[in-house]
Amino acid sequence: MSRSGGLQYKTDRGPSLAACRAVRRGHFITFEGGEGTGKSTQAKLLAARLKSLGIDVLLTREPGGSPGAEAVRHVLLSGAAKPLGPYAEAILFAAARDDHVRSVIRPALEQGTWVVSDRFADSTRVYQGVLGNVDPNLIRRLEHITIGGTRPDLTFILDLPADIGLKRAVRRRGSRPRDRFEAEGLAFHRKLREAYLELAEHEPERCMVIDASAHMTKIASVIWALVDARLHPAETPSELENAVS
Ligand code: TYD
Repeated sequence: MSRSGGLQYKTDRGPSLAACRAVRRGHFITFEGGEGTGKSTQAKLLAARLKSLGIDVLLTREPGGSPGAEAVRHVLLSGAAKPLGPYAEAILFAAARDDHVRSVIRPALEQGTWVVSDRFADSTRVYQGVLGNVDPNLIRRLEHITIGGTRPDLTFILDLPADIGLKRAVRRRGSRPRDRFEAEGLAFHRKLREAYLELAEHEPERCMVIDASAHMTKIASVIWALVDARLHPAETPSELENAVS
């Protein structure tokens, strides 16, 4: 209690937004897109290429990426939270992200590590916001609370016609059962693609739409050219230089 009698809330949310910006030294790159678009493969290839330059890189994913968030991932992808509705799912994705950002992403960026994440907040905007019809004001508030200033420098949106993506996802899955979102029909996945393209139109500086129908190595070289031009990885001090500085 404060002396005036009012309640004082002490939060453990780390440094202020301004402080986060000031100390952030690594770059943050995210991959987004529908099912079967090859995000995970491209995120891995990019992380490996950055590492080959001696850059300290953290490859992570959402939902998940920290022990707390991985526990929530299971609840979400098993479909256990589906009966609670899209608002509850949005809040659960946000809870997972809050832990992931505070315990993994932000500390890594502050140390100068580059972070490559397979999905991030745009997935909530699109899956829960657009497809789930969750109020955009709530989506914005959740984003503000969970990520604050920890916004991606670059986001690659891997784009593919929904039917092709779904076929690829079926092949990749093999005998594993479909997860909560893979189980949605073609109309859902078509709308998802449109929502990602619209998002990219609104944030052209950050979001790059990549044609995911090309060969994996061709896509990787397009992505690398964009990272190189925008974030200049060759000028980043290597892990060794970081260690001695
Ligand atoms: P995942 O198994 O990681 O598959 P994918 O290869 O499609 O990324 O599944 C994550 C699923 O969770 C995916 O269908 C998208 C969904 N999702 C949301 O609905 N909201 C979110 O905020 C996030 C991060 C993911």
